[in-house]
Amino acid sequence: MTAVNTGGDVEIAGGRSGSTIRFAAAAGLAALAGADRSVVVADELTADFVPRDFPRERVLVVPRGEAAKRLESLDALFAGFLELEVGRDWTVVGVGGGSVSDLAGFAASTWMRGIDFGFVPTTLLAMVDASVGGKNGLDYRGRKNLIGCFSQPRFVLVDPSLLSSLPDYELNCGFVEAIKHGVIAGDEHLTMLEQAVAGSGRIDRGALPPLIRLSIGFKAAIAGTDERESGVRRTLNLGHTIGHGVEAVTALAHGASVAAGLGSAFALAAERGGSRVDAERVGALLDRLGLPKGLEAARLAAPETRGLSPAAFRDAVAVAMASDKKRVGGDVLFASPMAIGDVRMESIPLVALQEFVRRAP
Ligand SMILES: NC(=O)c1ccc[n+]([C@@H]2O[C@H](COP(=O)([O-])OP(=O)(O)OC[C@H]3O[C@@H](n4cnc5c(N)ncnc54)[C@H](O)[C@@H]3O)[C@@H](O)[C@H]2O)c1
Repeated sequence: MTAVNTGGDVEIAGGRSGSTIRFAAAAGLAALAGADRSVVVADELTADFVPRDFPRERVLVVPRGEAAKRLESLDALFAGFLELEVGRDWTVVGVGGGSVSDLAGFAASTWMRGIDFGFVPTTLLAMVDASVGGKNGLDYRGRKNLIGCFSQPRFVLVDPSLLSSLPDYELNCGFVEAIKHGVIAGDEHLTMLEQAVAGSGRIDRGALPPLIRLSIGFKAAIAGTDERESGVRRTLNLGHTIGHGVEAVTALAHGASVAAGLGSAFALAAERGGSRVDAERVGALLDRLGLPKGLEAARLAAPETRGLSPAAFRDAVAVAMASDKKRVGGDVLFASPMAIGDVRMESIPLVALQEFVRRAP
């Protein structure tokens, strides 16, 4: 696969059909997916974003948030597909955040051995990250993304004006995945992101469209060269090993959990010879956004864990981390941010990571 970013559409070649990422109004969805042969998947809120030319009876509504990524939702979608007689020439369109796109992409990729699908992302996280690159999946028995597949959407329609109703907290959570891209890409990219965050921690919403394009171009280029995550794409897991452990235990939003995982990854890297200055720089940015930059802050941020002792909380995160998909035997392939622009994949014994989690800031 390869990605081409010409300043207009971003094209990712390869996969089953190739992917077109288009920056345009969501109202023009019918130009990418004919309304007569499309079934839309949305959540209880994002169903309102579906253009009127798509009939309501072909909009299947799933629960909001992570609850969408359950087997029950998949079952409900398949029942809907059956009733609507969704055939191989249909397109599934996911309209919503990353929870909706992960589910809709998986449902489309497995229905009749795979039919076309596309996304209209409605959260910042879904625009910069979840809708790009072809990872689709569901949670299983409390474990994140345990069931899933690599399969590229035929299109992604990015309309930043949809973010106007997104609460600041959700926006900040989505910004974390963009920060992750900046940390991997280097100083210039990260500086542009920092400049969009005011001293008060508010993101300048007007500055977002070019930053969204920057992140998409970055992720598309990486996913385009390593669709199956066997090489460079692994660096995109930065912050997610500890972050997924935090998410499983706290039920914090994905972006907030990744913030804690990212801050912790920097703290661990600093112990192993990484840049303390860069660790502080990213920590300061997460602070300004009002997001946890470490484990103790994550424990206190989540109503579910505030009542737990720090030791009990850390134990729970350490146990949850053991189900990491990047685990090979007793080791975990961990993305170590040694400095801005220098993220290295390191094989770290799970027990060493768990020991770090029990004493990390
Ligand atoms: N596939 C990938 O590559 C990838 C990458 C990153 C994250 N993810 C996944 O994405 C999921 C998180 O996605 P998310 O953060 O977009 O959250 P989400 O889809 O769970 O949505 C969060 C909330 O925002 C609401 N919402 C959506 N759009 C809105 C809008 N425009 N205005 C107001 N409210 C709106 C939703 O109804 C929901 O309540 C996680 O499950 C994570 O694992 C996937």
